[in-house]
Amino acid sequence: LEDNATDADLVRHALKQGGLNTVWKHVDSKSAFARQLDTFAPDLILSDFTLPSLDGYTALEMARKKCSNTPFIFVTGTLGEEVAIETLKKGATDYVLKHRLRRLVPSVHRALREAKLRVDRRHAEEQLELSRTQLRALSIHLQVVREAERMRVAREVYDELGQTLTGMKLQLTWLSSRLPKRAKLLQEQAGTIARQIDETIVSIRRIATELRPGVLDSAGLLAALEWQAEEFQTQTGIRCNVRSTLRETIWNPDLNTAFFRIFQETLTNIIRHAQATTVDVRLSRTPRDYVLEVRDNGRGILNFEIQNTKSIGLLGMRERAALLGGEVSIVGERGRGTTITVTIPRRRRNSRLTPEVRLSLV
Ligand SMILES: Nc1ncnc2c1ncn2[C@@H]1O[C@H](COP(=O)(O)OP(=O)(O)O)[C@@H](O)[C@H]1O
Ligand SMILES: [Mg+2]
Repeated sequence: LEDNATDADLVRHALKQGGLNTVWKHVDSKSAFARQLDTFAPDLILSDFTLPSLDGYTALEMARKKCSNTPFIFVTGTLGEEVAIETLKKGATDYVLKHRLRRLVPSVHRALREAKLRVDRRHAEEQLELSRTQLRALSIHLQVVREAERMRVAREVYDELGQTLTGMKLQLTWLSSRLPKRAKLLQEQAGTIARQIDETIVSIRRIATELRPGVLDSAGLLAALEWQAEEFQTQTGIRCNVRSTLRETIWNPDLNTAFFRIFQETLTNIIRHAQATTVDVRLSRTPRDYVLEVRDNGRGILNFEIQNTKSIGLLGMRERAALLGGEVSIVGERGRGTTITVTIPRRRRNSRLTPEVRLSLV
């Protein structure tokens, strides 16, 4: 952008001398400059500072708007120090004085190099963000698949094996009722088998329940939380109280699964890390959300533990909630305990995954 044809030639000559192979558009007015920004899309802009139809600041601003990543170098007769600094602040890459054109080629080389670095970095950042999104999608996908698989296996184990065993038990009872009273040994043997069958039925119930508690699907979230709390209390001796202000039962299977699995993870963490003696659980709702709060009275999680990106357990909780458009807040008070608050919208809103990623999960 230069209104003096001789100066333009000098600049072109300097670039050629410096070994720069250029395709060149020379303009000297605002309208022509605007047109070339659109159609030519330059890799580099060299601009005089004062022209009849526009000043350097305006030219710079136009260029920033149209092609913000293109290096912009002022090549000008004189430029006061303050103006020079101001142009750099406003986004100019450099300025070269016309009586020091020797500086032009090195300045252009540097500008192009830096522009390329910026482009490369932006590209790398985009790639990184993309793979983060994909990883998140994968982790969610795995959770969904695992949950479905657990549910299927739990049902199969419970229904099929349970029924078979019950049938065997009946047959055994029939059989032993026909054994002669005197056959003490056989009677005893039948009794042992019957007890083994009973024990196996109990194990099968336990295994199925561990895979996916039936109560979650048959009696709703609150009942499942209460059941889990009871189990936890029995196993660990840590008191666990569940309260709810809900009048309704939550049946939404996705929501139930998310809350329930997060609750389990929280309890596991309490056993492993908290040194707590009491856990208070509260299920409530706001006009927008269902809220599960789990508060322990242990040592209190530290900030660096919350922020640690390697904390797969905490990360998993967050992902589960995020999938349903919700979030998990974790607060620790040193020596006084940890509170985990899970908030999930009652009505499903968009999760933070992009539509494409969500689609790929279906
Ligand atoms: N209730 C809690 N009280 C104190 N510290 C906790 C609690 N829950 C989690 N933490 C801390 O946060 C860390 C991260 O938890 P998590 O992601 O579940 O990983 P992990 O349980 O596998 O160590 C734990 O290692 C522990 O140091
Ligand atoms: Mg954990």
